[in-house]
This record gives sequence, C-alpha cells and structure tokens, in this order.
Amino acid sequence: MCGIVGYVGDKQAVDFLLEGLSKLEYRGYDSAGIAVYDGAKIRVEKSVGRLAALRDKIKDDVPQGTIGIGHTRWATHGRPSDVNAHPHTDCTGDFVVVHNGIIENYLTLKEDLIEKGHSFKSETDTEIVAHLLEEVWNGDFEASVREVLRRIEGSYSLVFMCKREPDKLICTKQDNPLVIGIGEGENFIASDIPAIIKRTRRTYILNDGELAVVTKDAIRITNRKGEPVTKKVFEVNWNAEAAEKGGYEHFMLKEINEQPKAVRDTMSQRIAKDGKCITMDELKWDADYLNSFNQIYIVACGTAYHAGLVGKYYIERLVRVPVQVDVASEFRYRDPIIDEHTLFIVVSQSGETSDTLAALKESKRRGAKTLALTNVVGSSIAREADQVIYTWAGPEIAVASTKAYTTQLILFFMLALYMAQIKKTVTPERIAELIAALKQVPAQISETLSDTEPIKTFAKQYGFNDDVFYIGRGLDYDVALEGALKLKEISYIHAEAYAAGELKHGTLALIVEGVPVIALATQKSVYEKTLSNIKEVKARDAVVIGIAAEGDEELQKYVDHVMKVPETDELLLPILAVVPLQLLAYYAAITRGCDVDKPRNLAKSVTVE
Ligand code: AGP
Repeated sequence: MCGIVGYVGDKQAVDFLLEGLSKLEYRGYDSAGIAVYDGAKIRVEKSVGRLAALRDKIKDDVPQGTIGIGHTRWATHGRPSDVNAHPHTDCTGDFVVVHNGIIENYLTLKEDLIEKGHSFKSETDTEIVAHLLEEVWNGDFEASVREVLRRIEGSYSLVFMCKREPDKLICTKQDNPLVIGIGEGENFIASDIPAIIKRTRRTYILNDGELAVVTKDAIRITNRKGEPVTKKVFEVNWNAEAAEKGGYEHFMLKEINEQPKAVRDTMSQRIAKDGKCITMDELKWDADYLNSFNQIYIVACGTAYHAGLVGKYYIERLVRVPVQVDVASEFRYRDPIIDEHTLFIVVSQSGETSDTLAALKESKRRGAKTLALTNVVGSSIAREADQVIYTWAGPEIAVASTKAYTTQLILFFMLALYMAQIKKTVTPERIAELIAALKQVPAQISETLSDTEPIKTFAKQYGFNDDVFYIGRGLDYDVALEGALKLKEISYIHAEAYAAGELKHGTLALIVEGVPVIALATQKSVYEKTLSNIKEVKARDAVVIGIAAEGDEELQKYVDHVMKVPETDELLLPILAVVPLQLLAYYAAITRGCDVDKPRNLAKSVTVE
C-alpha cells in the first residue's frame, strides 16, 4: 500500500508534497520520493527509508517549482530501495508517474517495451507505466494517458506529469483511492484526506475509471469514455486536529481513547428518540427482503474479521439466521456456494483492503446482495457494495485498529437488532432493554480507560516474555483473537488465542511455569467451563491475568491478577473487554521500545494481495 500526493498552483510544490506525504506515511513508509518541474526539466528526488531520509537528502538543494507529485511506498514488486522508490520515469525523463496498487500484466508489457529498446532502472511494476506513456505518446498528454490505461490491467491510482505539457497533472484510479483537493489558484491530489485537510476541506472523490486533468485553476473530470463527469463537492468535516495525535504520544493511544466518542457517534443517529428501536435509514430493507436470504456471509481481514466473528454471534442469537464468517483471502478462492439468496456482508475500516474488495466483487458476480460496513466514505468497498453502513469512528491512522473494531461491533449489534425488529425474532421489551444497555457503553468504555495503571504494570512485568496465550469461550474467544492480534502486531511478542476448551487438545503442552495466560471470563453462560480451563493452566504454573465483569468476586481466587470491566449485558461485554487488551498491547509495545503506530512489515491499508 502507498501514499500519493500531487500539487499544482502558485506556491512551491515541495512544501505541500512533503507535508502531504508526512500525513500518509501510515499507508506505507519503506521509501519516498518527489518530482518537481523546475521550468526546464522534471527533477526527481527519492530515497529508501522514512520520509525524513528524503527531507535530509534534499535539504541543501530543495527542488524549486510550482507543480509536482510525491509518493511514500509499501513495497510490493521490488524490495525497498532508492531505485525502486517512486516517482518513476521513462527513458527520457519527460514522463513521470507515481502509483499505488499492482499492474498485473506488467511483465508482458515490460518484455515488449524492452524489445522496443526501453531500458529499465527498477524492479517495480510501476516503471512500465512511464515507459508505456513514452511509447504511445501521440502529442496529446490526456489521449496518451488513456492509451496507457487501455493497455494496463490491475489495480491502481496513478498521477502523471509530463514535461511537454508541464502545467497539468493527470490522475486516475481503479480499485484504489484518490481524492482531489479544491483550492484557490491551486489544487491538490492525494490518496487520502488527511494529506490535504490542512489546505482545503472541499474535495472530489474519484470513482473507478474517472480521469482528472488538474491545473492550478481547473479540474476537469471525465469517465472511461472521455465524457465529462459532474462531481458533487465532498466537504470534509474532520477538523485538522482529528488527523493529528491530539496530544497523545501515539495515534494508537489517541484512537483507543477516542472510542467513547467514536462509539457514541456511531450509535447516536441510529437509536430512535424514544429509545425503543433502532433506525437504519441507510438500509431500505423490509421483512420480505430479509426473508429472501437463506444464508448470510461475513467476510473481512484481520481485526475486521474478528469483528465479523462477533457479528455472527449477534445475528445468530438475535435474528436466528445462520451466518458464515470467512477471511477474505480464503473466501475468494474456495469456489463459494453463494447466490441471489445470500446476504454478503464485508467489513473494512479503510474500505480499500484488496482481498476484501475482491471477495465483495466475487460475491456480486455470483448474485449475492451485498452490504459493506466501513469507516471511510467514498472508499472503494463503500462504492462497490449494493448498500453501505458506516462506522463514524473518524480517521484511524495507527496501523493497529482499535476504535474501528469497537465501532464495528456496535454497528453489528445495531444491525442485528434492526434485523430482529423486522423479523420480530426479539420482543420489543428485550430490544428496548438492549438499547438501554447499548447507550451506557460509551461511558463504560470511559470508565475502563480511566485507570490504566494496573495494565501498565502488567505490561512492564510480562512485556519481555516470548509467548503469551489468550483463552476464552464464545464471545470471549472472539475477543481473545483480537487481543492476541493487537499484542502480536505492535509488540512483536508471539501471542496466540485459543478456544479455552481446546487447550487440552494440544496447546496445554506449551503451558509451563511462568507463561502468561490472559483468560477472558466475562460470559456467564460459559463461566464455569472457563473457570475449569483456568484451573488447568494454573495447575501448570502459568501466570494468569483474568478479564472479568464488575461484581465477579470468584475469578480472583483462581488467577494472579484480575482486570475488571463494567457490568452490562453479556452481548455487549466484548466491546468493553477488548479495551484492556488494546491497552495491554500498547504498553507492552512501549515497554519493548517498538514503533507503535508504524510496526515493522505492516501498513494501515493493505491494498495488495
Ligand atoms: C488490525 O490491527 C490490522 N492492522 C489489520 O489486521 C487490519 O484489521 C486488516 O488489514 C483489515 O483492514 P481493513 O479493516 O481496513 O479492511
């Protein structure tokens, strides 16, 4: 995954390019580069490593010019290096391009171009785009770019510069995000809104196949056929600080602490004034529509997949319809048995995850009706699905997903209630009761966040262990999976989650003296069984940290430490129980000196397979 920026206006392009890239580093940061037209030529400067390395490289000779493009990379084809960093040029240096995505037919195109005499500098798929533009150049920048687009296959957002028409940038997208910021006497291009939010709040969100010719005074957008497209201006209502750290040391801690607000924002417009029912005006569903489905799929990746597991529990418990949950990268290749009687739900914070987007397209191809739960308006998944409901978590910048997860659980809970209302599978009294409990959740998260000292202590005490186990049953198991992923991805500790009942089928062999086990025991319906599993690991001298609901005085008799979360309906406890696990992962990563917001090998939005 990569970050792209472009600038054309009256000011020095380099200032926006570097500022914009610094806001997009979460999309990838193994190398960075810029290209600026200085009146005579397009000067390209790039460097492996973080953006700071590029700043350092140009500090004594900053590229001058009022039009330019930039890129921060997460390597897919070609290892991180100076030469593989974007921007990429053709043989002459007249054509320059930055790219996010994958050109799937780049090898055949590259062979053909080499045969025609082109010489390549990098191992990337992107470089072929610049040489292709040189090859097909017919004297018209836009027409030549369209010819390039006709020949390449794959997913991309692309921004082109051309020395022969140096007053304009051309950008286009397919399956990857691109927004255009509308300025006064200047215009901006970026992969994502945080890059431009300090310059303008007025944006165009490009759709697949749309192409924009951007000069300092005009933005002309056309579709694949070259026909003009009238776009609605999308006003960004995030304030600039929302994309900053807001006083916290890391985006992740900021976003953990934003959860009460994010959860409140996600639920507030969807609870009827009288608190007696859920409204989902975004969904035009009735009983016939819902009764037309004989199965529901929930498909996603990573944390979103873990949210889907909880969503399955909610829908099956409240709506009594069978739900299958799958990771997107598995689903799309298993020749799934779905048709027009399938409701296919995808979950994605970024709305750009390639595997999830591909699974969504595959489900549509097989006739399913599709619904997306996503956090980004105008994202590729939001626009691909038949219907979309949004978490209103605001921008999530840290690679480790936190507020997106809890707002996804909230959204699934409300969706299940909404479906139960329509199918009348839950009494109105029970619905009102659950809504009343739901409304308490933001304050209960705040309460859990108010005392982090014990968690900091545990993180210091156990933060240097090589292995940590998470166990639980039912919803506690689903949350255990999410807790383990959090710890793994930011502290690099090997953490695994197991269904507590599974321990005796193998994993117990790994439980020896001193091994930390995080035991979730919030679900009353399986409490006794979980307790016996806790005794199993204690009998092998594990160190057990229990997660329990307020009022549980039993658990502390059997574990070494207990973290309590406020009491609520057991269906809602996952939203509270995950918070100490997020904090445990965060403080363990701090203890180990890890880069919390940008963990190694990972990127915030994985838009490649
Ligand atoms: C979560 O902490 C991870 N960073 C990762 O698993 C993420 O949830 C996954 O890549 C899915 O991303 P999405 O929700 O944007 O589709």
